Amino acid sequence: METRFELTEQNYQYLFDNASDAIWVHDLEGNFIIANKASEKLTGYTVEELTGMNVVQFLAGEFLDAAGEVKRKLLEGEDIEQPYEQRIIRKDGTARIMKMATSLIVIDGEVRGFQHIARDVTEERQLQKNLSFYVQQVTRAQEDERKRIARELHDDAAPPLLLLIQRLDAITSGSQQKLSSSLKENLGELRSQAIEALEDLRRCAQNLRPRILDDLGLLPALEWMAEELVKNYGIDTQVEVIGTERSLPDEVQLLLFRIAQEALSNIRRHAQASRAWITLEFGDDKTVLTVRDNGKGFELPQRIGDLASIGKLGLAGMQERARLIMGRLTLQSELGKGTTIAVEVPLKDSSSLETNQA
Ligand SMILES: Nc1ncnc2c1ncn2[C@@H]1O[C@H](COP(=O)(O)OP(=O)(O)O)[C@@H](O)[C@H]1O
Ligand SMILES: [Mg+2]
Repeated sequence: METRFELTEQNYQYLFDNASDAIWVHDLEGNFIIANKASEKLTGYTVEELTGMNVVQFLAGEFLDAAGEVKRKLLEGEDIEQPYEQRIIRKDGTARIMKMATSLIVIDGEVRGFQHIARDVTEERQLQKNLSFYVQQVTRAQEDERKRIARELHDDAAPPLLLLIQRLDAITSGSQQKLSSSLKENLGELRSQAIEALEDLRRCAQNLRPRILDDLGLLPALEWMAEELVKNYGIDTQVEVIGTERSLPDEVQLLLFRIAQEALSNIRRHAQASRAWITLEFGDDKTVLTVRDNGKGFELPQRIGDLASIGKLGLAGMQERARLIMGRLTLQSELGKGTTIAVEVPLKDSSSLETNQA
């Protein structure tokens, strides 16, 4: 049996009064008509004070411009992304960040004002900021550590091995003593093993922190990685540059390299691809790195961050690294067709999160 269920005005009033989100209505000129109890907490003004105020009193400078833009778009029937973020100045002069939804109030077919629902997300934003500052510090520490280990491998661990190889060479090629053929064979084998160990060690150092990246820059480093993929895994990998190459800030270069490195490692380990493409695009106001493969593809998770909780840190790490340089990571994958990962880094403000220091 179906019961008709209609809310009375009283019910609506109750919802309005008791909502934990701030709700208010103002006319086309921005004069407050009505505000609920939760608006007091958000703004620091009492409901009595609020009615009779104008929104301009909460908004200064750029905040006012942003609000004007929302208003204009709504009046012209354009879509705006909801909820959006807005800053207000409270009665005590402090700024708060709100998550807002705004819509038109239409009475008898005529637009009369705006209604807003707002939630204070200042603490949440601060926590996020702290967290990403922490991630940035940890990432930097990790990179420094990798650099140090790579240098030690290269400068301290490799030379004795090289010396060992040279001495073995001297013994086997030297004519001063006649060596039995079996001893010669053994020494030859030892030499090959030592060479292999040296190559492993160098590869290890290169993977930790390729000198080519610090010495020559991102593009040569990407080309080097592509060659490794061709040589060691038979995946035909191409590097393409779009636009005019320019130098990037060290941190951007390093993090883009790490993202490409992880993307290629995924291709190698998961994609079963025969081909891969790395594209570096230098746009007017952004740099875009794209890594694509023609492999088996996979089902995308709801949120990349969710993967981290099941111990898969690659994609989540790429996303965090992209964020550190104010970039945006997009992931596309189609079963049987392949996977594409793109990172877009804006030119401005992309050098570091320095401004983020709490
Ligand atoms: N290029 C790719 N092709 C196919 N599957 C992929 C690709 N990249 C990632 N995946 C899938 O996404 C999962 C998560 O990747 P990632 O976060 O790097 O973790 P991990 O590599 O440690 O498994 C992988 O386990 C794999 O199933
Ligand atoms: Mg991975």
